[in-house]
Amino acid sequence: MPENLRVELGSRGYDIIVGERLLSKAGEYILPHIKTKSVIIVSDETVARFYLHRLTNALEEKQISSRSIIVKPGEGTKSLDSFSELLETLLEQKPDRHTTLIALGGGVIGDLTGFAASVLLRGVNFIQIPTTLLSQVDSSVGGKTGINSRYGKNLIGSFHQPLLVLADVTTLSTLPKRELLAGYAETVKYGFINDPGFFSWLEKNGAALLAGDTALMSEAIIKSCKAKAAIVAADEKEANIRALLNFGHTFGHALEAETGYGDTLLHGEAVAMGMIMAFKASVAMGICPQSELDRALAHYKATSLPASPGDIRKDWNIDHLMEHFTRDKKIADGKLTFILTRGIGKAFITQDVNKEQLRDTLALACAA
Ligand SMILES: NC(=O)c1ccc[n+]([C@@H]2O[C@H](COP(=O)([O-])OP(=O)(O)OC[C@H]3O[C@@H](n4cnc5c(N)ncnc54)[C@H](O)[C@@H]3O)[C@@H](O)[C@H]2O)c1
Ligand SMILES: [Zn+2]
Repeated sequence: MPENLRVELGSRGYDIIVGERLLSKAGEYILPHIKTKSVIIVSDETVARFYLHRLTNALEEKQISSRSIIVKPGEGTKSLDSFSELLETLLEQKPDRHTTLIALGGGVIGDLTGFAASVLLRGVNFIQIPTTLLSQVDSSVGGKTGINSRYGKNLIGSFHQPLLVLADVTTLSTLPKRELLAGYAETVKYGFINDPGFFSWLEKNGAALLAGDTALMSEAIIKSCKAKAAIVAADEKEANIRALLNFGHTFGHALEAETGYGDTLLHGEAVAMGMIMAFKASVAMGICPQSELDRALAHYKATSLPASPGDIRKDWNIDHLMEHFTRDKKIADGKLTFILTRGIGKAFITQDVNKEQLRDTLALACAA
C-alpha cells in the first residue's frame, strides 16, 4: 500500500506519496491537483526513454493531455543556458497561470523544473515525480529549486513548493547502482543529523536495501521524507535548523566544484565524503569521540559508500578547497557556517570554526 505523508506548511502544505508502481496510476493522483486538464512534463532523455510513456498513458486514462520537453541528462543541464532555453520552450507552448509543470526525473530535473515553475508567468504549479533515490529522499522534498553558476552550485534559485510528490519506488529498478549509492548517502545523512535510531536501522538493513529490496527502500524513503519534512516544517526558509540538512555539504560542495560537477564525483558521493570530513574535523577539534567516526566508517565499508576524496584523486588543491568554503552560500556576516557533530545523531550548527584546524583536517582527509 502506498504511504502518504504530509509536509505541514499551511496553505503551501502538500502530500508525498511513496509506493510501488505509482506511475501507472499517476492520473488518479494528479487529477485532484490540477486546474486544467493539460500539463507539461519536463524530463531528461534517459528517464523519458524508460518512463515517459507510462506517465502519459496514465494521464490519458484520466483524460489529462500532456506535452513534454526532454532535456539532456546530467548536472550540466542545471545551467543558465539550459534554463533560458527551457523557459523559451515553455513559453512557446503558450502556458497560462493554470498550467502545471510535472518534473519527471532526478534532482536535476526537479531543481530545474521547479525553478522554471517559480518564475514562469510569475509562478505556476508543479508536481514532482522523482525517479532517483536521491530525489526521492531529499531533493523533491522541501521546495528548494535552482541552477548552478560558474561561481558555484545552486547559487541561483528560489523556494517553490510542489503541489504533490509521487515517489514510485519501482522506478529505482533501472537506476545505475552508482546513482543508487549516491542517493543512499543522503539517506544516511538523516541518521547522522539527529536520528541515531534510523542510523541503527540502516546499519541493519542498508546492504539489503541497496541490493534491491523495494520494501526496505520504501521504508527508508518514508523515514527520510519524514525527517526532512519535520525540519522543513520547522524552518522553511533556512533561518536556522534547516541548515542541519547541509551536513557534509560545505565540504562536499568544495570537492564537487573542484571536480567540475560531473561524472568524476556525483553529488551524493561528494556528500558521503563531506560527511566523513565533518566527522574528522569534529574529532580533530575534540568534540566528537573517535569511536563515532569509526562506527560511521564501518557502515560506509559495509555498504561501499565512498569515504575518501583521496580515492578520486591524490592532488587536491587545499587552497582551492578553502576558497570554495568562502563562496558557499552558508555564509553570514562574513562568518563561515559549518555543521559539525558530537557523534551519530548529534550534528549542530556552528560559526566557531578554527580555519587553521580546518585546513589541517582537509589536508589529512584528502590525503587519506
Ligand atoms: N532541491 C534540493 O533540496 C536538493 C537536495 C539535494 C540535491 N539536489 C540536487 O539534486 C541533483 C542530483 O540529483 P540526482 O542524483 O537525482 O541526479 P540526476 O537528476 O542527474 O539523475 C542521475 C542520473 O540518473 C538518471 N536517472 C534518473 N532516474 C533514473 C531511473 N529511474 N532509471 C535510470 N536512470 C535514471 C538521470 O538521467 C541521470 O543521468 C543535484 O543537482 C543536487 O544539487 C537538490
Ligand atoms: Zn545533497
